[in-house]
Amino acid sequence: MTITDRLDRPLRDLRISVTDRCNFRCPYCMPEEIFGERFQFLSRTEILSFEEITRLAQIMVRLGVRKLRLTGGEPLLRQDIEHLVEMLAAIEDVQDLAMTTNGYLLPQKAAALKSAGLHRLTVSLDSLDDAVFRLMNGNRSGVERVLAGIEAAEEAGFAPLKINCVVQRGVNDHTLVDMARYFKERGHIVRFIEYMDVGTMNGWKMDDVVPAREIIERIHSQLPLEPAEQHYQGEVAKRYHYRDGSGEIGLITSVTQPFCGGCTRLRLSPQGELFTCLFANQGTDLRARLRDGSSDKDIEMFLQGLWGRRVDRYSEERAEMTHPRSQKVEMYHIGG
Ligand code: GTP
Ligand code: 5AD
Ligand code: SF4
Ligand code: SF4
Repeated sequence: MTITDRLDRPLRDLRISVTDRCNFRCPYCMPEEIFGERFQFLSRTEILSFEEITRLAQIMVRLGVRKLRLTGGEPLLRQDIEHLVEMLAAIEDVQDLAMTTNGYLLPQKAAALKSAGLHRLTVSLDSLDDAVFRLMNGNRSGVERVLAGIEAAEEAGFAPLKINCVVQRGVNDHTLVDMARYFKERGHIVRFIEYMDVGTMNGWKMDDVVPAREIIERIHSQLPLEPAEQHYQGEVAKRYHYRDGSGEIGLITSVTQPFCGGCTRLRLSPQGELFTCLFANQGTDLRARLRDGSSDKDIEMFLQGLWGRRVDRYSEERAEMTHPRSQKVEMYHIGG
């Protein structure tokens, strides 16, 4: 079955945030001042169980979802996450099962994730310069540790990996070519992400964004690039090949060249709220329905209604707004 929203976009991807906790404190996502020791994260009973997540995923797959991505917070902090991977991998018709992680726990977890049936891994790493990286993760990890995680993922058989690099002007933009060169040699795909105004706590300013155009030019001047075809319609990253045939990079241009027209993504928070846009100011609670005896069919109809009413296109609208929206879901709740 395929269901479409008011702008004729089908529902294809479900991004599942499995925890609101993280062992990093990236200032653009979970600034230390706010997420200090006394910050109240969700309790065990508030978050969805693996059974509840799997049930929802099964219903979504019946409605046309083919791609699942596990996020957080940091998904590897959720206890026994490999067990959830196993449950999701067993759902028929799931074509792609991926995870976005900060990589810190991969040395312990990579092999288990692979044997549980995870298809793909994306590791976030904003710079190879240790001081810059520490600045961008609230001094929770050096570069070495994440590189060890990447190595563990390679050994477990996940290569090629995607490496996510959020670009902030004046913070890490002088280290981008090094990133590109390092991972080009190792056959991984770096995705440079325009710093976005997600959430309400990072004090985002347009001046902090390095437009993708500029990122490409800087890399191209050292490592010649050419544009590549999209893999599929609605792909988030714009792809560029190295002219010497040694791999590719991706650019995620949600600020300067929004891609809402092809947005087929629905997001599930750890406590069971659904968000029809990364920048939504409100979610829709599903947990109550999962716990009140509603049948799968009831939930299916509810989801059809929710997706059917969807009109979100925030990144396109932002381009026309004078101020970014003031009330928005926080990134650590829906994992990007
Ligand atoms: P692939 O399936 O490998 O293409 O990965 P992906 O790009 O869907 O996932 P990932 O979690 O690695 O996201 C990369 C970046 O793109 C993150 O910064 C996300 O927040 C951002 N992103 C993903 N989906 C959307 C979206 O629908 N809208 C916007 N504005 N940004 C998105
Ligand atoms: N802008 C762009 N990307 C962000 N991410 C987190 N916060 C932001 C932001 N404000 C990235 C993370 C991770 C991915 C899921 O989203 O670094 O790689
Ligand atoms: Fe944690 Fe990722 Fe947010 Fe950084 S961006 S604080 S690693 S969830
Ligand atoms: Fe989709 Fe919202 Fe991102 Fe646009 S801004 S691509 S509608 S999640």
